[in-house]
Amino acid sequence: MKNLEFGNIFPTVQWDYIHKISSLLPSVYGDNPKACVVTFGCQQNVSDSEKLKGMLFACGYTITEDINEADFIIFNTCAVRGHAEDRVYGNIGNVKALKKEKPNLIAAICGCMAQQQSVADKIKKSYPYMDIVFGTQMFHRLPEFIYKRLSGSKRIFELTLDNKPIVEEIPTKRDRVTTGWLPIMYGCNNFCTYCIVPYVRGRERSREPERVLAEAREMIANGCKEITLLGQNVNSYGKGEAHGVNFAKLLRQINDLEGDFEIKFMTSHPKDCSLELLDAIRDCKKVSRHLHLPFQSGSSRILKLMNRYYDREQYLELVREAKKRIPDIKLTSDVIVGFPGETYEDFKETLSLIKEVEFESLFTFIYSPRGGTPAAEMPDPVSREEKGKWFDELLELQDNIQNKKRGI
Ligand code: SAH
Ligand code: SF4
Ligand code: F3S
Repeated sequence: MKNLEFGNIFPTVQWDYIHKISSLLPSVYGDNPKACVVTFGCQQNVSDSEKLKGMLFACGYTITEDINEADFIIFNTCAVRGHAEDRVYGNIGNVKALKKEKPNLIAAICGCMAQQQSVADKIKKSYPYMDIVFGTQMFHRLPEFIYKRLSGSKRIFELTLDNKPIVEEIPTKRDRVTTGWLPIMYGCNNFCTYCIVPYVRGRERSREPERVLAEAREMIANGCKEITLLGQNVNSYGKGEAHGVNFAKLLRQINDLEGDFEIKFMTSHPKDCSLELLDAIRDCKKVSRHLHLPFQSGSSRILKLMNRYYDREQYLELVREAKKRIPDIKLTSDVIVGFPGETYEDFKETLSLIKEVEFESLFTFIYSPRGGTPAAEMPDPVSREEKGKWFDELLELQDNIQNKKRGI
């Protein structure tokens, strides 16, 4: 367990803030102060929110689902599509009325959307009742931010994205006991041209295998029956690290832990999905026979524009290998309709790939331009209405496939 010593541990200064907050809270809010964490976006955010809840609980707040009864509210946000951001603005708008009722209420916003300078600027200017704004690599500093604001500091904006080692041992309050999230890495280095994640989450950083195993053991000891390993691209786990444990090896090590539990994981990027990984899935009895393998487009031309590093044939070959090695594998995927410059001919290649693979289910998205990404600068002549028609055509095809699979 030598490696554990190298971790960047939750700083004692944050524990000091936690203790100071817990002695301050009753004088401001009475004997049952409450905090509400509102989460948008992917499982990574749900997992981060469990850490936000853990820190808030340690500060002395009771965690509530009801925003109306909260003395502290935090929105953990997503920026992946425009729609996700619109929903957040709608939600933070309500804070104004809540603060009229409760002048001591503190409101914060964090996560991927808040990480963008343009968003922080907009909140600074147009949402003066938001007290604290911080980005994706600063959430371990929540106690410090709350304490400073509680003791009268001016509004707090902290967007540092310095890609320092992952902070370990942040207090965590899990939403569930029998199923749980286990982040193995943070960030993304892939820079798919449509995607904002690498800009808001920063560089790929993997946790030490000993850390991951220790957390898995703890979850199992506490009754967890389904562990989902999380990362934007789990297949590149451990790349460039001296320990030499790649994702396939990590899966085998977790599979070898004592206990009766199932292992799931997401997301796998096709470019890094190795035969070694397929064999690990095949061999490990505790690993679920499910592979979420986003293909994004069936057209090699569009895949190149997307910077995905595989073409249609390579993807289909990978699927053939997966089905050959693991005959009962269930495949799911993500697909984007209407990437800039996509023609109906390209789109038909997406339809034909879906027909060929027959996914169990699909997460389908209409392309949403994200400021600062290369795709947002590409010519995009097809109208939203036309993209909507293509999208419906795709949904109908996938419905038919799913009905056929279920024998309907
Ligand atoms: N890391 C994961 C995906 C994270 S985002 C992966 O690479 O598979 C989840 C999904 O959102 C992506 O797979 C993609 O299909 C979709 N997505 C990302 N950016 C988008 C955008 N700008 N417009 C529409 N969909 C997008
Ligand atoms: Fe976005 Fe691509 Fe990274 Fe996934 S792999 S998070 S789609 S840049
Ligand atoms: Fe959204 Fe951030 Fe996840 S942009 S999809 S919450 S990594």
